[in-house]
Amino acid sequence: MKRTFRDKSTGFFINMGRKSKLLRIPAIIGLACSLLLCRFLDYLRNGTKRFACTAFILLCFMVGNSFAFPVFQEDNGFVTENTEPVPETVAQESDIALVSGYENSFDALPILEDEDVLEGYDDAELHGMEDADKFSLAEILNENADILQNVKKEEVSSINMQEEEKYQFSKEDWRLVLINKQHPIPDNYTFTLGNIKTIKGVMKCDERIIEDLLSMMQAAKEDGVNIAICSPYRDLNRQEVLFNRKIKAYMSKGMSYMDAYSISSQSVTVPGASEHQIGLAIDIVSDDYITLDEGFADTNAGMWLAEHSYEYGFILRYPKGKEYITSIEFEPWHFRYVGKEAARVMTKEQITLEEFWDKYL
Ligand code: DAL
Ligand code: ZN
Repeated sequence: MKRTFRDKSTGFFINMGRKSKLLRIPAIIGLACSLLLCRFLDYLRNGTKRFACTAFILLCFMVGNSFAFPVFQEDNGFVTENTEPVPETVAQESDIALVSGYENSFDALPILEDEDVLEGYDDAELHGMEDADKFSLAEILNENADILQNVKKEEVSSINMQEEEKYQFSKEDWRLVLINKQHPIPDNYTFTLGNIKTIKGVMKCDERIIEDLLSMMQAAKEDGVNIAICSPYRDLNRQEVLFNRKIKAYMSKGMSYMDAYSISSQSVTVPGASEHQIGLAIDIVSDDYITLDEGFADTNAGMWLAEHSYEYGFILRYPKGKEYITSIEFEPWHFRYVGKEAARVMTKEQITLEEFWDKYL
């Protein structure tokens, strides 16, 4: 006689229970389940309507679950299109608070270089602004020969010297002021803008760093390295224009406002928190490599600056591998004045200004 599914399954579980005491409980559960299943199948076999109803309920359950799935995903960072905030034209302070809870890791979003993100993007506000902002080494040194004549030529001390171990660094030192997204420029911060003469007019930065900056340019020239300044002091308005241009450009590539804001703030500091606004940061390129991208690090000028800028009190402010501390992408062109003693320590120990504050202040 042919054995049915019920006979086979019950036989299987009964044998299983007999063979070993340990398997007795699983065997009883298995037996109960298989009897229930057989009973359910019998029930369905006896009526097509019942079968159709059950199949329909199962189908509804599956479809319902598939709609519900993205809701679960949202907890894991999945943002649906409906959650996109309304774009703003000017970043507000509240946006800074908003985005700080939405900070992406550097791997999560691809940072595009300017030429990629701005390709085909036209912003009338910016026409002429970039060109007006590039100053060649020869031009600056010629126009400021008078200042350079009076600069005392110091013996450049080696990075191995131990002088800084005796040096007392102070939180009140204007050269060490920490400005970043978490530490915007204080309302009461004051400084005097100084002018460096150029053929087109003047280039501005904190007047206290001019001598060291010119000395650095002079030294680069003597070493046969051609550097050019492309972005010295910027006011708040200029920082806003640059920041918002970046956001708009990313959005024009289809990015949501929140993503565009977050990724823009990794290459242009949020307005109110840029070192350019206090005249202590200078973007430096060279005549033959004017793009602000990682490739500058491998040029003669990029390598010379990385090696020698500390001798004149400057540090490479946003180094590679420290993005998780600075929140800014690797910028081999952005140099920050911190004074010779601190610059030597930071360069020798390969630490950022944030790490220096933690360790020495
Ligand atoms: N590019 C630097 C981070 C700034 O905007 O200050
Ligand atoms: Zn910069």
